[in-house]
Amino acid sequence: MDISEEIPYEIVMRQLLLGRLVSSALHAAVVLRIPDVVHEDPCTAEELAVHLDVNEPALRRLVRVLMNLEVISEDPANGVLTLTPLGNTLRENVPGTARHSALLVGGPIGRCWDQLLAAVRTGEPAFDATFGVDVFSYLDGEADLQGVFYGSQAADLEITLTELVVVGWESYRTVVDVGGGDGALLEHVLTACPESRGVVLETASVAQLARSRMAAAGLAQRCEVVIGDFFESVPSGGDLYVLRDVVHDWPDERCAALLRVCRRDMPASAALLVIERTMASNEDHLLNHLMDLYMLAVVGGRERTAGEMEQLLSDAGFIVRKRHRLNGGVVAVEATQVS
Ligand SMILES: C[S@@+](CC[C@H](N)C(=O)[O-])C[C@H]1O[C@@H](n2cnc3c(N)ncnc32)[C@H](O)[C@@H]1O
Repeated sequence: MDISEEIPYEIVMRQLLLGRLVSSALHAAVVLRIPDVVHEDPCTAEELAVHLDVNEPALRRLVRVLMNLEVISEDPANGVLTLTPLGNTLRENVPGTARHSALLVGGPIGRCWDQLLAAVRTGEPAFDATFGVDVFSYLDGEADLQGVFYGSQAADLEITLTELVVVGWESYRTVVDVGGGDGALLEHVLTACPESRGVVLETASVAQLARSRMAAAGLAQRCEVVIGDFFESVPSGGDLYVLRDVVHDWPDERCAALLRVCRRDMPASAALLVIERTMASNEDHLLNHLMDLYMLAVVGGRERTAGEMEQLLSDAGFIVRKRHRLNGGVVAVEATQVS
């Protein structure tokens, strides 16, 4: 959205208020596979409407918004639509694709934003208030949506993957991914480090996804998938314990409990690696602040500053050794136990 000084504030505000229509337009474009279709076969809006079997005048209106958002461009000479570099991020199977995120905002995760006001009043997650169950339990019963969710996690990971080599994965014999999702991170680590072994700790249904992924990657022999509750215990015997996009799912007191369990069950010599978005300041990029509200709405968690994360770790008996700034505001924090 263009917020330039020449546009009166009253107009800027009206544009901001239609932000959900921007989200919905991108969601519709992805469900219709417009980015992939236009990429594979640039065509006019008329041809696109025939190909997609949708109402042509209505599609033209959607395409105009996509053009205004610089997702698609149109050749004025012949009306042929092409995908812009920004629009390319919505294609299937491109590294770091935003396609799954677009699908999520158009589904139950985006719908719970309707209850944001209640979440602000109570501090409780809007998702639970809307659907009567927490998001991870909800995903357990919705296999397709669960696949989209872990697809979005894997795509986010791809954005930081090359930079994550700074961790020096090869120096850890056993890497335990606590709340490791469908195992996408460990698949990359174990593929890159043939001497390493992995352990994924997950809930029952997600553990099944991790098992399938490891089997498909030929890594089942080097990766154990453990079903468990990280508030109760984490697997012993690892050299590195990873928490990626896990701490931000929880309010401080739950994080404190989780980190204390890690401290208790990890060998004294093992390291902890927390990978997630870090808030810089009030002047942070809007995406960081929106993601913070997203965490409030969806899980009742929060994005934290480096200082807040350090305090949580220190209260649980860890000392921060290194911080690596990665793409997109993500930071990898390496910590060890205070002896
Ligand atoms: C936001 S996802 C992050 C997944 C993965 N670490 C990644 O980076 O994609 C949080 C994960 O924590 C898992 N989880 C939530 N509560 C858990 C618990 N009590 N014990 C174990 N895993 C849990 C969820 O199933 C989910 O896969």
